[in-house]
Amino acid sequence: MNIIRLLPEQLANQIAAGEVIERPASVVKELVENSIDAQATRITVEIQAGGRSLIRVIDDGIGMSRDDALLCLERHATSKIKSADDLNRILTMGFRGEALPSIASVSRFILVTRERNEESIDATKIIVDGGKLINVTSAGAAPGTMVEVRNLFFNLPARRKFMRSPETERAHIQHYLGLVAVAYPEIGLTYIQENKCYWHLPPVTKGKETRPDLDAVYERIKKTQGINEHILPVDYQAKVQAQGTPPWLVSIKGWIGSPGVSRATREDMHIFVNRRPVENRGISYAIIEGYHTALMKGRFPVGWLFIEIDPRAVDVNIHPSKREVKFHAEFEVRNIVTQAIRNAISKQTSVLIVTKDHQESQQEKPTTTPCINHMESCLPTQQLLPVQTADSLNFHQTQDQVQPVQSEKTIQAPSEYQQKPLSSPEQKNENDSRINEKSIFQVDLNFLAVLGNLYVLFESDHGLVLMDQHAAHERVLFEKMLSCLDQNAVPSQRLLLPETIELSPKDAFFLSEYLEVFNKLGIGISKFGDRTYIIDSVPFFFKKQSARSFLLDVIDTIKASGPQINKLRLGENEIAKAVCKNAVKAHDPLKKEEILVLLDELKKCKMPFTCPHGRPTLVEISFRELGRKFGRIV
Ligand SMILES: Nc1ncnc2c1ncn2[C@@H]1O[C@H](COP(=O)(O)OP(=O)(O)O)[C@@H](O)[C@H]1O
Ligand SMILES: [Mg+2]
Repeated sequence: MNIIRLLPEQLANQIAAGEVIERPASVVKELVENSIDAQATRITVEIQAGGRSLIRVIDDGIGMSRDDALLCLERHATSKIKSADDLNRILTMGFRGEALPSIASVSRFILVTRERNEESIDATKIIVDGGKLINVTSAGAAPGTMVEVRNLFFNLPARRKFMRSPETERAHIQHYLGLVAVAYPEIGLTYIQENKCYWHLPPVTKGKETRPDLDAVYERIKKTQGINEHILPVDYQAKVQAQGTPPWLVSIKGWIGSPGVSRATREDMHIFVNRRPVENRGISYAIIEGYHTALMKGRFPVGWLFIEIDPRAVDVNIHPSKREVKFHAEFEVRNIVTQAIRNAISKQTSVLIVTKDHQESQQEKPTTTPCINHMESCLPTQQLLPVQTADSLNFHQTQDQVQPVQSEKTIQAPSEYQQKPLSSPEQKNENDSRINEKSIFQVDLNFLAVLGNLYVLFESDHGLVLMDQHAAHERVLFEKMLSCLDQNAVPSQRLLLPETIELSPKDAFFLSEYLEVFNKLGIGISKFGDRTYIIDSVPFFFKKQSARSFLLDVIDTIKASGPQINKLRLGENEIAKAVCKNAVKAHDPLKKEEILVLLDELKKCKMPFTCPHGRPTLVEISFRELGRKFGRIV
């Protein structure tokens, strides 16, 4: 008995909708992607009840003829690819020809479209109800396309039940539109939510840009993403050559949080590949790797990073809603991303200025909203330090197949890019007026006092500067250590009495693996018996009483770092930890002279603004901020 049959088209569409249309935000995404592909210069999105009752997307794109308008509702109907070969070089957002029929099969759907380049003023209006064609008529309309989606999932009660509250669905839509706003600054975007205009964003640049423009992207970030912290520009290019492929140029552009700006989750790091927002673990790791010691362990960076690469070098056809992509030369692209981040960070010029603890504000973040949390107002000031180049930084990384295309000099961001404090539009003037202020290290810092044997207070000509003496000391020692390591000799001090240490079999094996690294770090340790080691010298800064407990602590930290870290990186990481443990204790009283020497040494550091674990070393509270706190300035 034959039991296999072809599914009716409507049912097939509903099944496809199950994959592509997860929630109202997916409808917004598909429709807006179509508008972008149709070369729209303006897009208006309107929603009601979080998109559950209405989603309307209007564009001024190329529009469709009547025949095309009818055809676009058929499954697998697309104007974007013709052959299998085209699949290997996709430049459009869409290509699957699935979105419109899927959406129309699970909603009350109206399409009105008029060709932009035709003389006829006639538009086509098509009404579809739950996948059933109801009516095709002529209508009057402006050139472009309007799609209206009402009562999403009205004919699939099970799916309708799965939709969340209007607030949650709204948050997802806002999140997606925020990404579009940043990725396509040249497109004017209006977003109307529950009858209120939420964003009215005029086009930032004219014409169709092929690559993201840093200034325009910054403008859009400022307008749409409530972030009140410093961000740094990323602008880097390199060629990648994977086995059996032609060399491809990769460009990495965007804006990332300064060292010290971080989040508890990876949600606020946005990656775009050829302007498509994507999720990619490998690239996320590469970004974290790029921050090196400028990011606290367990914290995640913030940013908007655009990877531009030949479309033949990426596969976008690996996920039904195109959320993921695969690079043909993944390892090499990751390396370039890491390098791009390092390059950007090495040019950081100002100190982190906060008025509220980052972690606190992070915890307040509701889990349902993917939007960036607005931080309490802080006063970002622009303080310029001499710019450092990436090669002055001590990153140990092999760059076998990655060749930077431009020299550091040529790709260095112009001075207005050095670092930008972001703020809501109302704060604009206040921030702009501070942009020319001097570097925190270029002005005199007058020592005032030490608070709690930890925070050193200085006065500068624009406010109060606080230094965490422990964090500062860690940074200074860490960089000294790295530079000694570079010359292959970390000075060590001999112990008067060598100590023998007996370890557990597990620890003994572990230590035997890292003996070489330990010796390089100035820890004179050698094997004495099966599980016994002898330690006869310690690093130059060592201050503890017992070399034995020092060594055990170091072993513990190494073990805690996990086996996935490679030896070189582990070595560096541990230097940071070991330095930290042996740096001046947080509450060790320091004399004024010692503090001034410490400040002086910090100034000379390559990355003076964070400790090796990514915590800030300096924080400034400006007179303006104080004035605000005391109600003198409103
Ligand atoms: N806003 C629009 N303006 C002009 N043409 C559109 C628009 N939306 C859809 N189309 C046309 O309809 C086709 C089908 O759209 P869709 O189902 O989203 O599939 P895809 O985008 O994958 O091609 C597109 O290829 C395009 O030719
Ligand atoms: Mg599409």
